[in-house]
Formats: sequence, C-alpha cells, structure tokens
Amino acid sequence: KRPKITVIGSINMDLVTSTDLFPKQGETVRGSAFQTVPGGKGANQAVASARLGAQVNMIGCVGSDSFGGVLLKNLQKENINIDNIKRIEDSPSGLANIILSEKDNRIIIISGANAHVTPEFIEESKATILDSDYVLVQFEIPKETIEYCIHMCADHQIPIIVNPAPAFELSHATCNKASYITPNQTEWQQLFNNNWNEKLIVTKGAQGVSFMEKGSEKHISSHAVEVIDSTGAGDTFNGALAVALAEGKSKKEAVNFANAAAALSIGKLGAQGGMPTKDKVEQFLSKG
Ligand code: RIB
Repeated sequence: KRPKITVIGSINMDLVTSTDLFPKQGETVRGSAFQTVPGGKGANQAVASARLGAQVNMIGCVGSDSFGGVLLKNLQKENINIDNIKRIEDSPSGLANIILSEKDNRIIIISGANAHVTPEFIEESKATILDSDYVLVQFEIPKETIEYCIHMCADHQIPIIVNPAPAFELSHATCNKASYITPNQTEWQQLFNNNWNEKLIVTKGAQGVSFMEKGSEKHISSHAVEVIDSTGAGDTFNGALAVALAEGKSKKEAVNFANAAAALSIGKLGAQGGMPTKDKVEQFLSKG
C-alpha cells in the first residue's frame, strides 16, 4: 500500500545564480549561469516523497503571478495532489534567491504567497491532514500555522515530522508534540543548544546524520558522492524519512534510507533535480 503523506509548507520559485566567487561588499563579480527552477522546502519535500512512491497531498499557497502557474504545473507533473493549494490574488509567489558556488549555497527567501498559509487556511484541509499516514511541516510558513499543525496532528495521533528550517524559536512544549524533529547542525545549535532528545534526528551534511536511540547517540555516515548542488538535500532527507517511516521501517532503517536518498539528490542542479526514485535508492544501498 502506498503511504499517504501530507506536506504543509512553502512553494517557491528558486532563482539560482551560479558563481565561482561570492561578491564582497560593494563588489561586482561575473557569475557563470542562471536558472529558474521550482523549489520551496514544502514543495521539495512533497516531490521527494512522491518520487519515492508515496501518495502526496500538498497544502500551501502560490501567487497570481506567472510563477504560480509554473509551480502548480510542476507539482502536478510529479503526481502530487494540488487540490489543497490556493492561488492568492494580488500576491507574488514565494521566491528564493540562491547563490550557488562549488562549495556551498546562500539563500534569501521572500515569503510572498507562503505568508497566506494561515491556521484558518489549514483548517479547510483538516480532513486531508487527518487522513494521512505522515505529515511534514517546515518553517517557511507563519509560526502560528506551524504550531496549529503540530497541535492538530498530536490531538488526533497523526505522526508529524517537524523540519525546523530556517530556524526560529518554537516552544519546547510544542516541539515535544512532534513525532520527529529534523534540524540541521546550525538549527540544532540555535534551537536545542546542542542538547539531545529522542525525537531529534540531526542532519550534518558531509558528516552524516545523528540521532538518539534508547538513550544513546547513534550516527550514520554520509556517502561519498560528487556534489553538484546541495540545495534541497535536507528536503530530500525529510521527504524520504516520512515515506520510510510510513512504510513501517524502524527509525534507524528510515534514517539510513533517507541519508542515501539525500546523497543521490545532490548530483544534479536544482533542489528537485536530483531527487531519486525508490529503485535508485535501493540499488544505491545494495551496492554499499
Ligand atoms: O531547502 C531548499 C529550499 O530552500 C530551496 O528550494 C529554496 O526555495 C528555499 O526555500
């Protein structure tokens, strides 16, 4: 049976400028390429889950600009249900300005229509949320909406993965209602001061993934792969984690699967460009 995953979150157009050098203050440098590709942490996680075989519902908002239409079509092409996505009149779609170099990326996001993902809007999709095997939420939508989603899922025993990216303070009482919390290292430091609890799964880029199990810290190493674009690696991890957990894998097996999916995702340009299918991940893992 295909797991039912609902993703509540942002949908952005990514404006990706590739460059060898980052400009210093007041400096102009020549970049090497520019591309416009679909992104947004919510949409990326939805695409990751769908490619891995889940039945995915996306809940979010796009703008009335031309990007809005392109973003919706992209999700449809990935077999994601877009019935719970609203097009907001007189609002631009969410945008991410991404500067990509060989070593890393730097991102500035503009909320646009993502700011319209309010608790009232979420309430309209309650039936879909409560019919999910797993729910995913990230931090590119308003804070009160994130809290609302976590409480709604907890009240109805629907498992929810909270990906606190980009980080802002969320009360520990709310965090504790999540099934899993998946910060990267910086977010873990900012939100949890590097302290552990059993719900945390911390992604550490080239250093792999750490989590707690039965009171002790466990670690899974990253895979040695060529990095073309690491944008969206965390999103692939989260989408894959939800699918694996919904299929009944243990925490350790699910982290292992998600870690492999994330490794494969960074071999192509664009947050969604390299997201793998399930066969690809299984093949990759079987080769060791
Ligand atoms: O996690 C990567 C995503 O963050 C990008 O697609 C961009 O839209 C930003 O939201």
